[in-house]
Amino acid sequence: MNTKRDIDWDHLPNHIAIIMDGNGRWAQKHNKSRTEGHRAGSDNLETITKEINRLGVSYATVYAFSTENWKRPKGEVDFLMGLLRQYLKKHIHQAKKENVKVRIIGERKQLAEDIQKQILILEDITKDKTGLFLQIALNYGGRDELVRSMQKIGQDLLNNKVVLDDINEEIIQKYLDTAEIPDPDLLIRTSGEIRLSNFLLWQLAYTELYFTEKYWPDFSMDDLYEAIYQFQQRKRRFGAI
Ligand code: IPE
Ligand code: IPE
Ligand code: MG
Repeated sequence: MNTKRDIDWDHLPNHIAIIMDGNGRWAQKHNKSRTEGHRAGSDNLETITKEINRLGVSYATVYAFSTENWKRPKGEVDFLMGLLRQYLKKHIHQAKKENVKVRIIGERKQLAEDIQKQILILEDITKDKTGLFLQIALNYGGRDELVRSMQKIGQDLLNNKVVLDDINEEIIQKYLDTAEIPDPDLLIRTSGEIRLSNFLLWQLAYTELYFTEKYWPDFSMDDLYEAIYQFQQRKRRFGAI
């Protein structure tokens, strides 16, 4: 395994996306409940994002809850929403001490009203932060994002704010939840699943994909260094930094 020493610090990925998968299997392996797995996963999100910020990576996008995740048992969904409330509250509380700008991507109208309010507060109080730009995907689906973007473009066409001939890739990018930020250079998915599960379908067009067997709660900084090292060995086709 490669370590921190092997990394080329002048060529870090500018944007890292992570599908944080395997909380349930991590719990099973340790004879714990799935909810304990989710709590461990949430703790690891805090650890890893803090470190990514410290490394000087500009953007990170993490998949926390998909549009498909509503189909899980109600108890599990409720627990995940509870964890989300705790996360938002904690980060609103300690925003002064952190230099991370947070943006939530996904369809937030389906989230509980108190959560929507907390999201607006966290986004607002972190909007001028100059460190890591962290996007958290909540009730996010790549197809849903594209549908909502097309609806917004359609509306602007009807209102003559856009003309048909203007629509190109650059314009479409501006209508996505991830507007204004560069596409991920590196996507990491934990837990051995080798699929995208509806994550950032537009944005990952030329991203380097990295899959690891590690379950998300076990994914450590050494694993992140390994992923970055492997990324740096690849010859990129487009979007190279
Ligand atoms: C990822 O872990 C967390 C969420 C999807 C919310 P999982 O809950 O999918 O864990 P596995 O895949 O069942 O192990
Ligand atoms: C993807 O993981 C979503 C998140 C990590 C939030 P899932 O565990 O929900 O994906 P599938 O169902 O295995 O494709
Ligand atoms: Mg899973």
